[in-house]
Amino acid sequence: MSHKVTATILLTAASLGEQVQDPALDMIVGIVLPPDSTPASDEYIVNFVVPVSYGWTGISMGGQMSNSLLFTMWPYNGEIMLGSRWTNDYVLPLPYAGPKITLLPASKINNTYINAIFRCQNCTVWEGGSLGSGDLDGTAVLAYVASTDVGVDDPSDIDSSFQEHNNFDFFGLDLSQAHSSSYSKYIGGGSTTSAPSGPSSTRVPPSTTTSAPQATQTAYGQCGGTGYSGPTVCASGFACIAVAPPYYSQCQPSK
Ligand code: HEM
Repeated sequence: MSHKVTATILLTAASLGEQVQDPALDMIVGIVLPPDSTPASDEYIVNFVVPVSYGWTGISMGGQMSNSLLFTMWPYNGEIMLGSRWTNDYVLPLPYAGPKITLLPASKINNTYINAIFRCQNCTVWEGGSLGSGDLDGTAVLAYVASTDVGVDDPSDIDSSFQEHNNFDFFGLDLSQAHSSSYSKYIGGGSTTSAPSGPSSTRVPPSTTTSAPQATQTAYGQCGGTGYSGPTVCASGFACIAVAPPYYSQCQPSK
C-alpha cells in the first residue's frame, strides 16, 4: 500500500514539555513527563491536537506500528473517542488493555479541532518496547498517523475496526526536556482517579460555546483561533499562544 507523507516537521522545545507541530497535516503532539524519580514513574501526559474533520488519527509511542503502544482517536457526536491499541503486524491494531487513559478536563472538541490532553498510566513500558527505549531522559522516536478522509467503521465504538492511514511521519523528542515540576498540577493536584481500567474508552462532553466574559481558560485549553468563542484569557501562570495560527491558540505555561 502506498502512503503519502507530506509532513515537514518543525521540532520545537516548547513549553508543553516537548512538542512537535506538523504544519502540513495541521497536527500537534506534545508530551509531559513527571519529574525524574526512583523508581521511574510509569505515566505521562499527551497533548494531541488534530483537525476534527479527519477520519481518525493516531500516535505510536514506540515510533513504529508493530510492538508499540498505539493511541487512536476520532470524534463522535462532539465527543473524543480515545483508545489504546497494539499489534505485531501491519494489520488492524486491536484494543490493548493495560494502559489507563484519562482525558483531562482541559480537553476540547469544537467544529475545527480536537484538542485531547490525556494522562496515560502504566504507559512507559508495553509488550515489545518502552518509551525512549527505557531511557526517560534520552531521545524518543514517536510517530503519528492520520486517515484524513476515511472514518472508522463505527465511530460510536471505541473498539471499532478501520482501514489503513494515508499519512504517517516520525519525530524525535528529547525526553530530558519533557519533565515538568508542574506535572501533578496538570493532572489535577495529583489526586488519584478511580476510573475503571481495561481497554480505555474515554469521552468528554462537547465543549460549550458560550462562557461568562470573565472566565479564564484552563491549562492547555483553547484560547483563540478561527471560529472560537470561549475564554481568551488564560488561567494564572499560563499565556495564550498561537500554536497554529490563525486557527488555534492554546494556554501554555507562561515561563
Ligand atoms: C487497519 C489498520 C492499519 C493498517 C492496515 C496499517 C498498515 C500499515 C502499513 C502497511 C504500513 C507500512 C507502510 C509503508 O511502509 O509504506 C504501516 C506503517 C505504519 N503504521 Fe499502520 N496500519 C494501520 C493502523 C495503524 C495505527 C492505528 C497506527 C498508530 C496509531 C499505525 C502506525 C503506523 C506507523 C507509525 C507506521 C510507520 C512505521 C512502520 O512502518 O512501522 N498504523 N501501517
